[in-house]
Amino acid sequence: MEPLNLFLQSISLTQFKNYRKAHFDFTGKIVCITGNNGKGKTNLLDAIYYLCFAKSYFNSQDSLNVQHGADGFRLEARFLKNVKSEAVVCTLKQNKKEMLLNGDAYQKLSRHLGNFPVVIIAPDDAVLINGGSEQRRRFWDSLLTQTDALYLDDLIAYQKVLQQRNGLLKNTPAGQSPDNTLLSVLDSRLSEYGNHIFEKRKQYFPLLREKVKALYRQISGTEEAIELIYQSSLMQTNLQDLLLQNRTKDILLQRTTDGIHRDDLVFLLDNYAMKQTASQGQRKNFLFALKLAQYELIEAGRHITPLLLLDDIFEKLDHERLSHLVRFISRHNFGQVFITDTEEERLKKIFQGEADSLQFITLK
Ligand SMILES: Nc1ncnc2c1ncn2[C@@H]1O[C@H](COP(=O)(O)OP(=O)(O)O)[C@@H](O)[C@H]1O
Ligand SMILES: [Mg+2]
Repeated sequence: MEPLNLFLQSISLTQFKNYRKAHFDFTGKIVCITGNNGKGKTNLLDAIYYLCFAKSYFNSQDSLNVQHGADGFRLEARFLKNVKSEAVVCTLKQNKKEMLLNGDAYQKLSRHLGNFPVVIIAPDDAVLINGGSEQRRRFWDSLLTQTDALYLDDLIAYQKVLQQRNGLLKNTPAGQSPDNTLLSVLDSRLSEYGNHIFEKRKQYFPLLREKVKALYRQISGTEEAIELIYQSSLMQTNLQDLLLQNRTKDILLQRTTDGIHRDDLVFLLDNYAMKQTASQGQRKNFLFALKLAQYELIEAGRHITPLLLLDDIFEKLDHERLSHLVRFISRHNFGQVFITDTEEERLKKIFQGEADSLQFITLK
């Protein structure tokens, strides 16, 4: 079955970051957004990301995306899904976010995710290798929330109960024990949601691992031994038992010390942590493999071609990697791609074979 083709036709931005009021029409399959630094290229990609994913890729706090001095923002998009036209609106007013599809507000933002799938590759993505486990969980969650319709509901519910449990532990004076009945109720609710999340992570992990390995081989053109490991205490013990085992420790430290909120993905090169041993080039190859794997898994899971947003990645890319990426993007039935660069000429040269699908937008 061919995936549905997702095409963004236009976007309007009001009081969003540096855009007071702006409108863009997109006619190309490969949209090149050029302009000097600080002109709003990344912000425009982020607005697209927002309309697909209901939040910013760069600012976890919604209010930071409101134009300085304004009290809210509004983003509007018109999409085509194959031939069906879909209007998506995202507004933030007095710190309250609302998403609308064809005029109707979503009761739950989670219902929106995955219907307009998106994958972004940005310079800061190196934190996926170098940074803490929360970065990798964020990547993993953005993949799964767009692939599995119910994953985000479980994740939100888990985080809510986790906060309650941590609150209970924190508010218990040292040397005393918290209300055991309440703690047990919270444990069983946390376990229910946590186990769902774990099952989904465990189910999708082998697919991610295989895809990343295959893509890495293609991109790097080598047989370098890379490995991905899904690390979770739930591999050994179910969450209910784990919480019980850790109860004394949790009471002492006044927080929930283990659970799916501590899961990690471990990336290895020749059996060593990539963080410590991989070269710049190997890291770049791996990050591409990771993101393109995310693209392919979401596409396969939802039968919709995601939008691919490439922020400033061509500047430092060598010829080899460049040509692989261009081949990937130029594939028959690949979705729409948005690319930012300070240099129009560079993009013209890279995509000279794709003239029919190219559109250039210059930000002044
Ligand atoms: N909340 C905001 N309100 C107003 N301007 C903002 C806001 N956030 C960022 N900006 C402005 O946006 C500009 C950066 O845009 P950006 O998309 O990162 O540029 P580019 O990617 O083209 O280099 C900066 O001038 C910055 O001051
Ligand atoms: Mg930028």
